[in-house]
Amino acid sequence: MKAVRLLEYGGPLVLDDVPTPTIARDEILVKIRSTAVNHLDLVKASGKARQILPIDLPWIPGHEFSGVVERIGSDVAAFAPGDAVFGTSGMGAYAEYLAVKPETTVRKPSNLSFEEAASAPVAAQTAWQGIFTHGRLEKGQTILIHGGAGAVGAYAVQLASHAGATVIATASGRDEAYLNSIGASRVIDYHETQFEKVLREKFDVVFDLVGDVTQKRSFVVLKEGGHLVATTQPVSQEEIARHRVSGAMMRLAPSADMLGRIAQLLKEGTIRPDVATVYALEDAAQAWKNIAAAIRRPHGKIVLNSGSSK
Ligand SMILES: NC(=O)c1ccc[n+]([C@@H]2O[C@H](COP(=O)([O-])OP(=O)(O)OC[C@H]3O[C@@H](n4cnc5c(N)ncnc54)[C@H](OP(=O)(O)O)[C@@H]3O)[C@@H](O)[C@H]2O)c1
Repeated sequence: MKAVRLLEYGGPLVLDDVPTPTIARDEILVKIRSTAVNHLDLVKASGKARQILPIDLPWIPGHEFSGVVERIGSDVAAFAPGDAVFGTSGMGAYAEYLAVKPETTVRKPSNLSFEEAASAPVAAQTAWQGIFTHGRLEKGQTILIHGGAGAVGAYAVQLASHAGATVIATASGRDEAYLNSIGASRVIDYHETQFEKVLREKFDVVFDLVGDVTQKRSFVVLKEGGHLVATTQPVSQEEIARHRVSGAMMRLAPSADMLGRIAQLLKEGTIRPDVATVYALEDAAQAWKNIAAAIRRPHGKIVLNSGSSK
């Protein structure tokens, strides 16, 4: 099969012919239609974080996928060949085929294209786990989402709003109308305004998708007992104690149960996916170059297509 591989840390992505994966009794073989680019892929490939995020080289990137089940292992009862599915894998989705355990795979909502479906699993589950599992967000509460127009942020805005919370987001000003359209009641342009200087209310939850000084400045807008959930860096224990809040950096733990609930919301049209650009799989190297060179990208995920979108 064709696969896009990294042969050495910091090296280029190359399109290679490699053996099609075999499956264990508890695995399924998926013919990949689309996958999506995650920043984590680029970080792992650079080697800069190899102490904490090591990869085995040669490495096939790709944490999420959509496609069609080609074959199932003898212990698998939940899927049959021909099922259209989407889900996550630790790696390996920049390829024509992927062997995965079914625990993080569910059926693709029929109203979503394969491209849309591939864009959702990592971002939507990170948002779900961040605001509900770690942030314990409830109906009637308030949440501040930093980076609200990004891939994770847009799902967080939609899920929090659907759950009956009041949502305020920080983002670039050009994304204000978009964020209002998906459920943010107020958008603060981070280029123009320091959020803590204009916010009068305090929040039950801050979901920090940005980090650095944005995180440092977030403690003062949290209610006592509130939760700061971060995706990019650990949260200072001193600040947590000083402000009498709780806080932690999360690490996505995907599950079929959570993705199944997200799939239902996508099917109903309660939440919607956002695809920025689609590249052919063989152009993955170009997609990564464009991401690295971009000063500002349009919101939504970059998707790589190994088949037609129908
Ligand atoms: N821990 C985990 O399990 C986990 C899981 C998934 C993702 N992540 C991480 O979470 C982060 C967000 O992921 P993503 O996929 O949503 O990224 P993304 O799509 O690149 O979105 C980032 C967003 O942040 C905005 N932004 C940048 N600086 C900002 C600031 N100072 N204030 C407010 N907004 C700002 C950007 O807006 P402009 O482009 O307009 O500047 C962009 O819309 C990434 O670092 C990713 O690696 C972690």
